[in-house]
Amino acid sequence: MATKKRIGILISGRGSNMESLIAAASHADYPAEIACVLSNRPDAAGLAKAAGAGIPAEAIDHKRFSSREAFEADLDAALHRHGVEIVACAGFMRVMTAQFVERWRDRMLNIHPSLLPAYRGLDTHARALADGVKLTGCTVHLVRPELDSGPIIAQAAVPVLDGDTVSTLADRILIAEHRLYPHALALFASGAAIVSGDRVILRQPQINQAISLYWPPLT
Ligand code: GRF
Repeated sequence: MATKKRIGILISGRGSNMESLIAAASHADYPAEIACVLSNRPDAAGLAKAAGAGIPAEAIDHKRFSSREAFEADLDAALHRHGVEIVACAGFMRVMTAQFVERWRDRMLNIHPSLLPAYRGLDTHARALADGVKLTGCTVHLVRPELDSGPIIAQAAVPVLDGDTVSTLADRILIAEHRLYPHALALFASGAAIVSGDRVILRQPQINQAISLYWPPLT
């Protein structure tokens, strides 16, 4: 098998998506390995989980730095120290400068809990519920300087059920996130998904192109 790509995961909180990536990467045939987990918050619960899984885990407290650029210089240095080739943001709640994003252009992924370009930003589930949409979901995309934009690698559609609350909808979408992110990272790290202009395309033609998700279901 080709050498595994080295992944640096950026987190700020509980790190459940991080755990799904660590679990996927523990399989011998996964095309990537987790080189490190970095958090801008020392109290992020995900740090202990990463360390418990034997992954180098470090806090780089953004509050210690006088500027965003100074914080990012340390972050960048840590990523390089760990030999990171692809950055995977997983609940990383720190706005990045355009310079940092450009430095990692086409080498930095993010997961967002909506079907982008719908519901960029925060409170995605509350806004989806307020709009009465029947399908929402999650997206893995390459990071660009504009928030929650960038070429889409993969998406999962998740139904909104009558009576859903933000919490029940978030729980349902999170289950999809935990399957989608390892899948999208594998496509990207293996070279099965590549950047072409302003989008990501799959190198092999896909079968089952006619499958659509209907909600409510067709009877
Ligand atoms: C996820 O919903 C992710 O889509 C969003 O932030 C949340 C992080 O959750 N970007 P976790 O830390 O991975 O559990």
